Amino acid sequence: MNTLGKTITCRAAIAWAKNSPLSIEEVQVEPPKSGEVRIKMISSGICGSDDHVLKGELVVNFPLIPGHEGAGIVESVGDGVCSMKPGDKVLILIIPQCRECDACLHPKGNFCYKQDVLPCSGVMLDGTSRFSCRGQKIYHSFRTSSFTEYTVVPEIAAVKIDDAAPMDKVCLISCGFPTGYGAAVNSAKVTPGSTCVVFGLGGVGSAIVMGCKASGASRIIGVDINEEKFPRARALGVTDCLNPNKLEKPVQEVVMEMTGVGVDFAFEAIGLVDTMVAAWNSCNNSYGVCLIAGLAPSDAQLSLEAPKILSGKTLKGVCLGDYKTRDCIPQIVTDYLQNKINIDPLVTYQLPFNQLHEALELFHSGKAIRCVLLF
Ligand code: APR
Ligand code: ZN
Repeated sequence: MNTLGKTITCRAAIAWAKNSPLSIEEVQVEPPKSGEVRIKMISSGICGSDDHVLKGELVVNFPLIPGHEGAGIVESVGDGVCSMKPGDKVLILIIPQCRECDACLHPKGNFCYKQDVLPCSGVMLDGTSRFSCRGQKIYHSFRTSSFTEYTVVPEIAAVKIDDAAPMDKVCLISCGFPTGYGAAVNSAKVTPGSTCVVFGLGGVGSAIVMGCKASGASRIIGVDINEEKFPRARALGVTDCLNPNKLEKPVQEVVMEMTGVGVDFAFEAIGLVDTMVAAWNSCNNSYGVCLIAGLAPSDAQLSLEAPKILSGKTLKGVCLGDYKTRDCIPQIVTDYLQNKINIDPLVTYQLPFNQLHEALELFHSGKAIRCVLLF
């Protein structure tokens, strides 16, 4: 059936309100407008940021179609789109790259002004939505909704990847893998022989561990309250596992004792203020670097002992591994195809889209590092 220029009716998961179970509904997906692309989704990961949205920890507009870590094939393109064409394999990008804004033009910036994470409007760049259900407007999630058979995203929030990419796995390279791996290798630039601590051993934290290991870190301490994460974390390179709920002292004191001087690099990949503070206090006072990759709730405030900043340590936020997404993500896919990196250990489950609730259950139980939905 030729769908060009027509509204497509397909299945999508809708969150009608915060904390309400997702329901799979028939939705209408309008054709892409100027500067947009419509994509047939092939796979989507379930990421911690989606969970923050569904729980209402991030202020968003409901009802919405969640998901942002996705791989698909371009179905059609709007006017003026020239970086991709129907049939191309693409990844969608929670952090777009417009190549025009201050962040995109600065050599060190990647938090494009056209992103829709902080804050989340839920609409396309022209202020409207492409989704509806029974006549009601449905919002987008981070301008990249992926829990749907078809989605529409701005051209700047998608990128063409190698034709040989295995589409049932590479969705992880759209967000979780580069977010973690890049935090270690690109943002922190972890040094050989260094000591690291990683708070949170989910999809992002596991990718951070892989980046620390690839950079030659000699000790990688993994922190998680779910001990089911420990065996896989050890297999990826974690040398010591800590469950803060089973320690007699605050975890940062234990890390200080274990290392004597504090770690060279601390990473937070959970999105909680307490663990951000613990990561900061685990760092060496003089040269330690603390990287925050977790997304905190919309109203959260971070409170640190101010005098301690003087001693020289660094606090840094990192979004999508500091990569300029359209420039760098395709190369990560190519590196995977050339066996320079391996995302396979992170894909612990793959389930068809109609088993979305089982997939969410695996995510919440912590049994999965990443559970991938297949459309
Ligand atoms: N202390 C230690 N570990 C915790 C705590 C805590 N208080 N609370 C949760 N965790 C662990 C969970 O058990 C889980 O293993 O943190 C991990 C989070 O992993 P995921 O849920 O898989 O989330 P992920 O996709 O890795 O995202 C992590 O990075 O990009 C951000 O928005 C994202 O804030 C989120 C974070
Ligand atoms: Zn930009």
